Amino acid sequence: MKVTLRVWRQKDGNSEGNFEEYQTEGLNPNMSFLEMLDVVNEDLTLKGEDPIAFAHDCREGICGTCSCMIDGKPHGPENGITTCQTYMRSFKDGDLITVEPFRASGFPVQKDLITDRSAFDTIMQSGGFITARAGSCEDANALPIGKEVADLAMDAAACIGCGACVAACKNSSAMLFVSAKAGQLNLLPQGQPEKDKRVLNMVATMDEAGFGNCTNQYECSAACPKLISEEFISKLNRDYVSASVKKLFKAKSL
Ligand code: FES
Repeated sequence: MKVTLRVWRQKDGNSEGNFEEYQTEGLNPNMSFLEMLDVVNEDLTLKGEDPIAFAHDCREGICGTCSCMIDGKPHGPENGITTCQTYMRSFKDGDLITVEPFRASGFPVQKDLITDRSAFDTIMQSGGFITARAGSCEDANALPIGKEVADLAMDAAACIGCGACVAACKNSSAMLFVSAKAGQLNLLPQGQPEKDKRVLNMVATMDEAGFGNCTNQYECSAACPKLISEEFISKLNRDYVSASVKKLFKAKSL
């Protein structure tokens, strides 16, 4: 198969970018989108041109590194998968495919399709952990956790921090990411002691990093490669109100 690629090229964060077109042919429909980019880059390198910069690591939907917009959708046309899990058979022979980086003020472009998503790391450092000594693995039944709660916490823990939620949101809100990362701990007994502090700190750090507010459009969960539910956002909002009220009463009683 052959496709025409319209790719965003940008030298660095200080340069202006523009779309460049590349013709491809002889592609195997069973190659992944990243393998197709590898082929294009091989040609560019042989011609002495600058290859298209794109981020990748695991190439199996685990690390969330391969984030980019394909035809205006984070990670491409299919639901519940990442760019590296997208195959060329998802496109038609002769298609024009537009590839660009995630667009959000919290994710500045570094080069071509690569964005700086370290703002997510900053949010995690502000509360996405527990400080309880973990030690060696506890006996499975020492701290019983109901299956429903355990399943829900696992659903939240599926977030790979790719940023598709931010890229899909018209407000560039990171609420789905923060709600999943806070929720995976807030749901479990181990996460209770620092729950209020965690929620207040992570939301404050998210705001400081320049992400927008959630206005309940739910584009985030529609674009999420791990299909994380927007219900985690409702839970985070409830936890945030509760923590804020407790903080206010505590301040008044001092
Ligand atoms: S390269 Fe790791 S999720 Fe795509």
